[in-house]
Amino acid sequence: MFAARRAVTKVLSNVRAKHCLPDLPYSYDALEPVICRDIMILHHQKHHQTYVNNLNIAEEKLECALEKKDVSTVISLMPAIRFNGGGHINHSIFWETLSPNSSQPNARVESIIKQSFGNLDMMKQELSAAAIGIQGSGWAWLGFCPKTGKFRVASLPNQDPLLGTTGMAPLFGIDVWEHAYYLQYKNVRADYVKAMLDLINWGKINELVDDAMGCSK
Ligand SMILES: [Fe+2]
Repeated sequence: MFAARRAVTKVLSNVRAKHCLPDLPYSYDALEPVICRDIMILHHQKHHQTYVNNLNIAEEKLECALEKKDVSTVISLMPAIRFNGGGHINHSIFWETLSPNSSQPNARVESIIKQSFGNLDMMKQELSAAAIGIQGSGWAWLGFCPKTGKFRVASLPNQDPLLGTTGMAPLFGIDVWEHAYYLQYKNVRADYVKAMLDLINWGKINELVDDAMGCSK
């Protein structure tokens, strides 16, 4: 009886928790007119959901391959895990760091912006230029570099995640995959990028900076 219970407990403890699509912290039309409802629904329910689904599939295959010590299969799964895992991480941050409500950097964040870029406008210019300049699909990021204690702008292709690729903590990302803007902005990516800078959720970024600096309450 006890042995059977222990066996069941062991099986349950070995069941891997699957990744789930996070709820948006606002309604699908909350970011209008910058991002229309149709884009938000497609982006969240179709694109982000697909990254989540494919990450779960890849992780299941990885688990089997690791159990069998099948190194070739483990290696062959890495691109799918990078792409879909990155897609899930990036979009999860993306939704949280956008807001229809205006907010401001707190004193600590403002001070780091000054040290890193000169002022907020210069930071926005650098981030815009990075986003507009990405060839093909990718993300432009504002990140916190733990080595220097400063912010930096970086652009990455595809769904490469900022932390896993550069070691910087992601604070705010602009998704320049066409699925993020084409329905509304067509080929004028610059207009989309400019409008996105009005949706920065500084309240969330203030928290992310605290986390990255290890000074969360
Ligand atoms: Fe996206």
